[in-house]
Amino acid sequence: MTCATRFDANLEKPHMSHAVHHLKHPLIQHKLTLMRRKDTSTNSFRRLLHEIGMLMAYEVLREMPVQEISIETPLETMLAPVIDGKKIVLLAIMRAGQGFLDGMLDVVPSARVGHVGLFRDPATLNAVEYYFKVPQGMEERDVIVLDPMLATGNSAVAAVDRVRATGPRSIRFVCLLAAPEGLANFHQRHPDIPVYTAAIDRELNEHGYIVPGLGDAGDRIFGTK
Ligand code: URA
Repeated sequence: MTCATRFDANLEKPHMSHAVHHLKHPLIQHKLTLMRRKDTSTNSFRRLLHEIGMLMAYEVLREMPVQEISIETPLETMLAPVIDGKKIVLLAIMRAGQGFLDGMLDVVPSARVGHVGLFRDPATLNAVEYYFKVPQGMEERDVIVLDPMLATGNSAVAAVDRVRATGPRSIRFVCLLAAPEGLANFHQRHPDIPVYTAAIDRELNEHGYIVPGLGDAGDRIFGTK
């Protein structure tokens, strides 16, 4: 259930720009509400993110290309569609993106995994890269960039800048919460990359946190507060 537009996988010829897919499925919304509550334990938070990752994967992969392969049913041979999971790269922005990754991998277990390590300079809120690793042959791969929080958008922009330079077939960005400021910043730089989010919150506060939000996603996933 999305409220946005079609995305053409071909980055060279995007059919539309500034696409935001707001995933309003009640299961996603219910689990997100539980995650937002400050009393939700680390254990529950992690499990809920895992479950939401699986549910969001269902929507994000909706328009993935499929290929027909020949299979044999007990009755006859037929051509049947399959997703080429190996062509999908789940690119987790560390560290919170890792929490999203596990649920998505449950749904697409043969996907390849990439990591980008970025930290937020506390003074400027700019993203600084410290790690980047993706599979070879990116030209024939579809990339799904994962970060639960699209806050200022600086990390998302930096991650997509970086992966875009590897020339993948398509890129999508998936988050749990987006701030309007982050969406605007992201789409100013990457108007052709669709964003999938479970919620668009009110605003960023002066510390760069999304409000009402859910706090620091990394701390809540890993229990590091
Ligand atoms: N990162 C988080 O973990 N939470 C926010 O609210 C913003 C950025």
